[in-house]
Amino acid sequence: DQRLITDLKAAIRSIPDYPKPGIVFRDITTLLGDARAFRRAVDELVHPFAGGRVDKVAGIEARGFILGGAVAHQLSSGFVPIRKKGKLPHETVRIAYSLEYGVDEMEIHTDAIGQDERVVLVDDLIATGGTAVAATQLLRQMGAKIVAACFIIDLPDLGGAQKLRDLGVEVRSLVSFE
Ligand code: PRP
Ligand code: HPA
Repeated sequence: DQRLITDLKAAIRSIPDYPKPGIVFRDITTLLGDARAFRRAVDELVHPFAGGRVDKVAGIEARGFILGGAVAHQLSSGFVPIRKKGKLPHETVRIAYSLEYGVDEMEIHTDAIGQDERVVLVDDLIATGGTAVAATQLLRQMGAKIVAACFIIDLPDLGGAQKLRDLGVEVRSLVSFE
């Protein structure tokens, strides 16, 4: 509801000119540090899936780990990390993706997800969508059925959520900043 949205937005700190001039960085550490806001955000992320089957929650490094772990626990699902390259110890599948500036690579363990497993993707924020689109491609390559991709924050002007929807992914976010 509107009250929840207002409260969650108020719990997110906005930092002008970080990491570059002209960018307003939406910082969720203040939300995470607020016990009530953190619980309400996780409850709201989980709500659509209560009663349905979710085999795995996939969280994107780094902030998607914090939220994804909490979501997985509450759904009684497994948790799978999608990490920046070079961090996972076992055999991986890797994909390159573009960020607002430059490119990076992310990877997932090849045995992390089985064919047709039902997976919810979690991250703190979707901006250009480069990160979440790459994660979607990795998960589908593993044979995952993506139930939805969930974020606390959408920056709709950057078009990422639309890109994901165009790939047939159900996108959910709790708040938007224009
Ligand atoms: C941020 C954010 C998302 C991504 C969104 O992570 O947590 O993962 O950017 O941007 P996009 O939609 O334009 O791809 P960042 O790349 O800063 O990595 P970090 O969490 O490891 O700091
Ligand atoms: N906050 C956090 N992560 C981000 C942002 C932001 O405003 N923009 C792109 N990635």
